[in-house]
Amino acid sequence: MNWAESVKSLILDRRWIRKVAEIGVFEGFTSSAILEVRTIENCYLVDPWKPYKDISYIGTRGQDYLEDCCFRTYLKFFRDPRVTILRMESLAAAKLFDRELDFVYIDGDHSYEAVLSDIKAWLPKIKHPGLIAGHDYGVIPDVTKAVHEMLPRGVKFLPDEQFKNSSPEFWEKVIWYCEL
Ligand SMILES: C[S@@+](CC[C@H](N)C(=O)[O-])C[C@H]1O[C@@H](n2cnc3c(N)ncnc32)[C@H](O)[C@@H]1O
Repeated sequence: MNWAESVKSLILDRRWIRKVAEIGVFEGFTSSAILEVRTIENCYLVDPWKPYKDISYIGTRGQDYLEDCCFRTYLKFFRDPRVTILRMESLAAAKLFDRELDFVYIDGDHSYEAVLSDIKAWLPKIKHPGLIAGHDYGVIPDVTKAVHEMLPRGVKFLPDEQFKNSSPEFWEKVIWYCEL
């Protein structure tokens, strides 16, 4: 399973997941996988599509590149009534919600401070039972550190086969998730 299939499997295993938010959308690859699950009723896609600094190449490619990503995402999803695109920063978007989401997937700015504050901001927006998850555990040390700090217990993992040329202890644990 690649990362998007792993995220989809999390939802398929929990048919009570109806209302979800993805933080960090890029071109909507994972969003498409989430929306393939027909039990999803509302999907909020949060991304400012503006330059930022973390370990990846995406944030440094310039505004034109990010405008294209944003445009492609709108084209992909504008016909789907379940989708709301929130073109804004994660922390601003979190303020729009009460404790009403079943699942939040965190894959925005991967710096330590950003992952820490994303988990902190979105945890109170998730109902119980609920689920929080994210990408790049083990891949980006900042993500690993922030996840351990915010969720010291109960974190589980799923694979991301894009890292299959590394050891299984690594690629089988790239998606982190925690049941609430
Ligand atoms: C690794 S990509 C996301 C990939 C996407 N989740 C997928 O699986 O295809 C990271 C995205 O996070 C977005 N991002 C950066 N800072 C953000 C912030 N403060 N709030 C929300 N999204 C942010 C970037 O614009 C970029 O599109």
